[in-house]
Amino acid sequence: MPPTKFTSSSVEQTRSLGRLIGDALAPGTVIALDGTLGAGKTHLTQGIAAGLGVPSGSVVSPTFTICIPYEARLLMLHLDAYRIKSPEEVDQFGLDESVSDGVVLVVEWASRIEKLLPPIDIKIQLTQTGEEGRELVFEPISAAGSELVDRVSQAWAD
Ligand SMILES: Nc1ncnc2c1ncn2[C@@H]1O[C@H](COP(=O)(O)OP(=O)(O)OP(=O)(O)O)[C@@H](O)[C@H]1O
Ligand SMILES: [Mg+2]
Repeated sequence: MPPTKFTSSSVEQTRSLGRLIGDALAPGTVIALDGTLGAGKTHLTQGIAAGLGVPSGSVVSPTFTICIPYEARLLMLHLDAYRIKSPEEVDQFGLDESVSDGVVLVVEWASRIEKLLPPIDIKIQLTQTGEEGRELVFEPISAAGSELVDRVSQAWAD
């Protein structure tokens, strides 16, 4: 399946797109987010969490804590690889086991630790196109990723 491009013209739209992802998420899905500082990775993640039923306002940027769990319809781990310096910092989280147990993983700056992550289902590249303009390219890697992109595309078009 080729990449699918979405555009957002506001924080609210980015969160809405995230909510559609959260609505459609299957257990054990691994989402890899990449994009420059301020591209909107955390805001998209807040939408994903909202779609899973995490109360709004509880999802913060995990830059300093690296890994934060949220519990809703599914358990979600929000990781930020920006400050990670050694593989041990990632290994301590036991990500493979969590994902096999059905935990959803959302990783900011994922390309920095791609080799340390469980198999990625979908890559999302965020690009700033203007003050509030953002382009989000969804690249499904697995069958589950393709399914997710299909469901999000349909819901986004409605
Ligand atoms: N359409 C948009 N979608 C998302 N954020 C937007 C948008 N327009 C403007 N913004 C602003 O861009 C910034 C995005 O911040 P956010 O923390 O989500 O980025 P990030 O990619 O997680 O950055 P970092 O790499 O520092 O973690 C916020 O200040 C937000 O208000
Ligand atoms: Mg962030």
